[in-house]
Amino acid sequence: MAIDDKLALLTTGDLTVTGRLIDASNATLYASVSISEQSLPCIYKPIAGERPLWDFQDGTLAYREYAAYLVSDALELNLVPLTVLRDGPYGFGMVQEWIDIDEAVDLSEYFSSDLPELRAMAIFDAIINNTDRKIGHLLPDQSGALFGCDHGVTFHSQDKLRTVLWQWSGDRLTRAEITLLERAQRLLADELDLSAYLTHDEIASTQTRITRLISTGVMPEPSRDWPAVPWPAF
Ligand SMILES: Nc1ncnc2c1ncn2[C@@H]1O[C@H](COP(=O)(O)OP(=O)(O)O)[C@@H](O)[C@H]1O
Ligand SMILES: [Mg+2]
Repeated sequence: MAIDDKLALLTTGDLTVTGRLIDASNATLYASVSISEQSLPCIYKPIAGERPLWDFQDGTLAYREYAAYLVSDALELNLVPLTVLRDGPYGFGMVQEWIDIDEAVDLSEYFSSDLPELRAMAIFDAIINNTDRKIGHLLPDQSGALFGCDHGVTFHSQDKLRTVLWQWSGDRLTRAEITLLERAQRLLADELDLSAYLTHDEIASTQTRITRLISTGVMPEPSRDWPAVPWPAF
């Protein structure tokens, strides 16, 4: 299915909830969107089902998920499945295309490997300040592409990078990676307005983080003041 058709389905299709993901911490619902004969499986996270957190303002996780999608899309990273904000049977929330993961991939080995798409995910997480990149939030699909999910706890104004992807920590950024970060800088400075989804502070801190990454010139290193690996890691 073409991307535009998928986006139309996600945005305007009839949304039917078909199940609830039991390992999820929020009301993360398995659903499907359909328009006449066409349908697409998806994830639906209504804001009303968001569990309150001590460090993120209530009712903002869906917006963060959407902002993460917009950044990945604008940078042509394609690391976040198609995501929209819309209404549904349990109210307004985020709806995201479901990715069928490649069951042949052993995630417990995969996550610590040196694949370029994983390294791109690590840089993406540094940009969005992801506080929860677990192994189970990595979705390698059958075509060999990698997607990530669960970007609700991102873009905090304080540095909170928490991830399982530390294998390149301290390694020099490549020329192409610096170019990507410079593009992200320009993007946030004028082309991509995230102010409907994030606070002014959060956007400014994102820009500061990108600038710092460029000036240090190395892959992010774990903080000593913050648990740098999620628990449980899966
Ligand atoms: N778009 C998606 N495609 C495929 N699987 C997904 C997708 N989004 C979530 N999942 C699966 O559902 C699980 C729970 O979703 P997640 O976004 O982590 O919810 P929560 O915020 O409640 O932790 C994920 O760990 C992943 O296995
Ligand atoms: Mg999760």
